[in-house]
Amino acid sequence: MKIIICHGLKGGVGRTAAAVNLSAIAAQEGYSTLLWDLSAQAAASYLYRVDAHPYSADESLLEHPGKLVALIKGSDYANLDLLPAGPVGDDFNRLLFRRGKAKDFLPAFTTALAREYDYLIIDAATTLDELFVILVRLADLIIVPMTEDPLCLQAFQRLSDFFLANALPMHFLMPFLQMIEDDNTLALRRLRTLVPALPATMIPLAPELRQMNARREPLRVFAAESPAAGSFAMLWWEIRTRLQEDV
Ligand SMILES: Nc1ncnc2c1ncn2[C@@H]1O[C@H](COP(=O)(O)OP(=O)(O)OP(=O)(O)O)[C@@H](O)[C@H]1O
Ligand SMILES: [Mg+2]
Repeated sequence: MKIIICHGLKGGVGRTAAAVNLSAIAAQEGYSTLLWDLSAQAAASYLYRVDAHPYSADESLLEHPGKLVALIKGSDYANLDLLPAGPVGDDFNRLLFRRGKAKDFLPAFTTALAREYDYLIIDAATTLDELFVILVRLADLIIVPMTEDPLCLQAFQRLSDFFLANALPMHFLMPFLQMIEDDNTLALRRLRTLVPALPATMIPLAPELRQMNARREPLRVFAAESPAAGSFAMLWWEIRTRLQEDV
């Protein structure tokens, strides 16, 4: 099982949009896929019409990975399951750390998932905490959407510094361009010189992505022919190529 984390320190730049659409594409291609909504906002759960808060912050959840596996929900789509966001204010993260179990529990949990899934895609929070460090050590790729906003560059540089400081694998970081209107602005040219190895694919600024929030369906359902859907398919191809190269 390959683990892909959608992360980034700058909010509102398309992490959930990527997690939702990439998981939809993976499932459509026939890969058994789990989307884990680890954000407090529960946006990915909402977009897939799966209820958040299916469990109370019950510490017995951590007694055995099977207890968390049992909370996974099916979706309206073949090959796609969802582990919805937990209860507000007492999320999974806090639960794990209150009991000091994260280091042992998460590897056991992902090992259990690997029996069922080809891909685990995580819609992560913007935080840089111990949970994130443990997840990164288990992961294969951390995809980081970046708009041309200079604050995104600043956020990416700080994320890179965090990787360096914690001896995390820098080559797992895969930034990609999101919400691009004009692909030849000064800001974008500057970004390209400062951020190495940006994938060729850019996700355009596209009204379909906003419509997704009202429709609560991935692009492949209602805008399969749109440039944005095509870009996510290309990005997925680039991600798979990266993952194969790393094997
Ligand atoms: N390429 C795009 N073009 C236009 N709108 C977009 C695009 N990508 C995402 N959006 C919209 O921008 C908003 C933020 O996107 P999204 O929720 O995916 O970002 P996020 O990084 O997950 O944000 P948060 O910090 O809230 O978790 C959403 O309303 C989404 O529909
Ligand atoms: Mg989000």
